[in-house]
Amino acid sequence: MRILNFGSLNIDFVYDVNHFVRGGETLSSMKLEKFCGGKGLNQSLALARAGANVYHAGCVGADGEMLIDTLKNGGVNCNLIETINEVSGHAIIQVDKNGENCILLYGGANNSITVEQIDKVLGNFGKGDYILLQNEINNLDIIIDRASQLGLKIVLNPSPISDNLKKLPLNKISYFLLNEIEGKELTDKEDPDEILKELRSKYPESIIVLTLGSKGAIYDDGSKRCSHGIYDVDVVDTTAAGDTFTGYFIHEITSGTKPEDALEMAAKAAALAVSRMGASPSIPMRKEVLEAQLRLKNNGKG
Ligand code: RIB
Repeated sequence: MRILNFGSLNIDFVYDVNHFVRGGETLSSMKLEKFCGGKGLNQSLALARAGANVYHAGCVGADGEMLIDTLKNGGVNCNLIETINEVSGHAIIQVDKNGENCILLYGGANNSITVEQIDKVLGNFGKGDYILLQNEINNLDIIIDRASQLGLKIVLNPSPISDNLKKLPLNKISYFLLNEIEGKELTDKEDPDEILKELRSKYPESIIVLTLGSKGAIYDDGSKRCSHGIYDVDVVDTTAAGDTFTGYFIHEITSGTKPEDALEMAAKAAALAVSRMGASPSIPMRKEVLEAQLRLKNNGKG
């Protein structure tokens, strides 16, 4: 079983600020750092650091060498990444003194995925393999349709939300990993139980993992439901915490780990990620996660 992640690769420009800049305001930042990021790249690294056999497909520009190098050094197969005549995707990320972030994206090369590339990439995979997708590349509908025809299991992290999400062939998704905001977008419901109920009735065959921020995460596969809280750490930067959770959870669940244990592993990995600066550099190695001595926040009660 192989995992293909067809996803974004971004250069992240991370600014330390006292507060997020407001409309009409000019704000000086205290520090600028440049990291490799993009939900796709982060999730591939999280998968690889968790121990998965992962292939990344996507597009970068000539300025994207550092993105490919980072993935390669992390053990990700990069043969399916194309370098094209566009600038690489980038993100301008403000991180405030509470470690919260706000992100401005420019898709760049991430939005230049062609049907030809999709067919070429998917031609390498088949029944029994998994494909992981986020919402930061173009032609997602075509990727989902073709991957489904080939018998791949499709995992969708519908992040970041946008108008196109509801138009995707979501009945072909095997796993949804989403947060409350994305859940609301897909169901028009706010309460987590209502979101899960609505998703279950719309997509009866899908496995759903709903993350609830400080309240942890819920797993629901239609016959089993379990949940897990978050761990108590000093928050430095929340960027890529969700990506770390996704990569670790998918590796665990596709390796046969029980859902409650997969949630635990993913929650620990995400906790370590928020205690460090940056997107990809914050994603922990499996050994660190296994050895981490972490305490559940509020006894796991949210
Ligand atoms: O999820 C975090 C990521 O979102 C950042 O690395 C940034 O590039 C954006 O894609």
